[in-house]
Amino acid sequence: MFRVTEPVSPEDFQKIFDLRYHVLRAPWNQPRGSERDEAEHTSVHAMIIDADGRCIATGRLQYNSSEEAQIRFMAVSNEFRGQGLGRMILEFLEGKAKANTSATIVLQARENALRFYKDAGYNIEEKTFLLFDAIQHYRMRKTL
Ligand SMILES: CC(C)(COP(=O)(O)OP(=O)(O)OC[C@H]1O[C@@H](n2cnc3c(N)ncnc32)[C@H](O)[C@@H]1OP(=O)(O)O)[C@@H](O)C(=O)NCCC(=O)NCCS
Repeated sequence: MFRVTEPVSPEDFQKIFDLRYHVLRAPWNQPRGSERDEAEHTSVHAMIIDADGRCIATGRLQYNSSEEAQIRFMAVSNEFRGQGLGRMILEFLEGKAKANTSATIVLQARENALRFYKDAGYNIEEKTFLLFDAIQHYRMRKTL
């Protein structure tokens, strides 16, 4: 069965960045490197590896303040969607935020992922930005 782990090696991080790139950036012709930011080293990373050693699901938790955590870069490989892997990643990161005594988790949801987050207990606060002139985002929040 699948389980969530944290990356430990540079190879693990490369697999995470590759999955992020293919799911969240390549379809909109964004350059390599746009799938990561300056908060990688201070964030919690989650990944699911398949039997062939590929990263098939990932997500990241960063701490915005002592009260607020933020989830970013949620991505599940196309052929593994709808099997509960995204939910596993989300719950793993929520567990980390709770252990850190964060009061809330905020995120910027793509329109296509709204139901995924609603079903996990997140509420829409505000319609926010249009990424790559194409993907409407909504700020959502969950109280822990
Ligand atoms: C959004 C995403 C991370 C969800 O991961 P997933 O593994 O497909 O989702 P899960 O199988 O864990 O779904 C959990 C619940 O979310 C809801 N859900 C997930 N995908 C859904 C969809 N396409 N439509 C409606 N509800 C959906 C369902 O309630 C589901 O529960 P159920 O299986 O009991 O019906 C994944 O589909 C993905 O990577 N999408 C493309 C990239 C993306 O949009 N990332 C989010 C950026 S904010």
